[in-house]
Amino acid sequence: MTEPKTRQVEPAEDAYREELAFLAAYDTGRKPPGWLLTPRAAVTFVMGSEALILPKAVAGLPSRLAISPKFVGERALVERAVITLAGERGLLLVGEPGTAKSMLSELLAAAVSGTSQLVVQGTAGTTEDQLRYGWNYALLLAEGPSARALVPSPVLTAMRTGGVVRIEEVTRCLPEVQDALVSILSDRRIAVPELSGTDDATVHAAPGFTVIATANLRDRGVSEMSAALKRRFNFEAVGPIGDLAAETALVRRQATAALDRVEAPFAIDDVVLEALVTAFRDLRNGTSVEGWAVERPTTVMSTAEAVSVATSLGLANAYFTSDRDPLSLLPGHLLGVVRKDDPTDAARLLAYWDGAVRRRAESGTHTWRRLWDLRDVLDQ
Ligand SMILES: Nc1ncnc2c1ncn2[C@@H]1O[C@H](COP(=O)(O)OP(=O)(O)OP(=O)(O)O)[C@@H](O)[C@H]1O
Ligand SMILES: [Mg+2]
Repeated sequence: MTEPKTRQVEPAEDAYREELAFLAAYDTGRKPPGWLLTPRAAVTFVMGSEALILPKAVAGLPSRLAISPKFVGERALVERAVITLAGERGLLLVGEPGTAKSMLSELLAAAVSGTSQLVVQGTAGTTEDQLRYGWNYALLLAEGPSARALVPSPVLTAMRTGGVVRIEEVTRCLPEVQDALVSILSDRRIAVPELSGTDDATVHAAPGFTVIATANLRDRGVSEMSAALKRRFNFEAVGPIGDLAAETALVRRQATAALDRVEAPFAIDDVVLEALVTAFRDLRNGTSVEGWAVERPTTVMSTAEAVSVATSLGLANAYFTSDRDPLSLLPGHLLGVVRKDDPTDAARLLAYWDGAVRRRAESGTHTWRRLWDLRDVLDQ
């Protein structure tokens, strides 16, 4: 019997513990200081691979293991990202919402330093302390400043351990807070003036320390980052998935995993998933697969949203069983996604129905005929 799950989401290093241990044993080549895996194995971890065979047996590890595919996208992008980190430079992943920037940063952090849990979430309320250090005030009052009373930020911990710290949504931080990062990334040390005169007055970054930041293009801009900070990062743009089949396969995989977490099977037909992903892509790209113009809604029709719609269809199917055809739920879910930013986007979805969906229905495919019949759901 398997143990009941006690966590909703496992961090990457726990979810893929076996893969990481396997890859560490499989590729024993040259590693940058402080790294868990070689750069090549780190790329394999992120992209996945066919079954690999261990050169010699290691206790507790299988002799062969396929590495699951995780990030769907250009291998070259992942290679550049890994090389940036190997050079101990900051890596900034920029892109539209829901393009797996956070997921990629988590996977890279797990592959490079074995933990993805040193994270600072950037918000307008992020303070410099959250990038440097704070104090345990009870201890501070009782003993005065001491190494024991210092509360390290995730950045400081990563510096001490030579690990990767993730800074999510860095552009949401106020400029003066972003500036704290400039000095950290150039000096590679943090001064603790309160402890001057002791060995703990300066924390130096151990080899391996580096930063992965993410930034959302829909937020207050990457362009507003100071030139000094930009210069300390290599930028990588993460785009939407190029290929319909790859995106459909990913949506299936992620939705299956989500249903697995609640111990339900994912029983949605491929034709339904393909229609779902096609609609997302048409609305995202502004043209249909056939090349017809589609008016784009303001909302980003991200893969992440497609996964959550597929998951909802799967859950409805699992819990309300087969009395409802999953396809009949699709227009309502699409409407929910489209309406997020601007209520008038509902009209754009209706226009998509009256254009591309109707034309596909006329050409006779059953799925699209059925979706056309459901137009009323959108016309409220
Ligand atoms: N190229 C991709 N490869 C794998 N998964 C993807 C991809 N694009 C989107 N996803 C899915 O999207 C989910 C959410 O991605 P994530 O939260 O990392 O996006 P994000 O870019 O950080 O978004 P945001 O800007 O809103 O923070 C992932 O867990 C995954 O299910
Ligand atoms: Mg994110």
